[in-house]
Amino acid sequence: MKKCLAILTGGLFLLSAVSSWAVESCVKCHKSMDKVKELVKATGAKSGDELVKAIRGGKKAGVHKAVKDEDIKKAFAEISK
Ligand code: HEC
Repeated sequence: MKKCLAILTGGLFLLSAVSSWAVESCVKCHKSMDKVKELVKATGAKSGDELVKAIRGGKKAGVHKAVKDEDIKKAFAEISK
């Protein structure tokens, strides 16, 4: 029974990790979501689309080449929760 519970909680943990996957793709470099939040605030973007534009046209567009548009939008949604 204990084993069952362990597998269940493990599965739930994995599920929550997958659902915040977009954020993970930012945290990989930015270390914490608080940092990303600060940077996003500094761009002044008011929507996911605006954030995509800000990052694509920003001075750090090069470093974000491998980051998908949908990840940026998801990150924005996550931040503005
Ligand atoms: C490959 C590494 C990397 C990844 C992945 C990454 N960033 Fe960045 N990002 C950087 C670096 C380096 C800077 C510039 C240094 C700094 O200010 O921390 C930066 C700066 C920024 C800025 C401000 C710069 C500007 O253009 O105005 C924002 C906003 C930002 N990142 C958002 C994100 C979001 C949202 C994600 C996830 C979808 C993400 N980043 C993923 C490396 C990365």
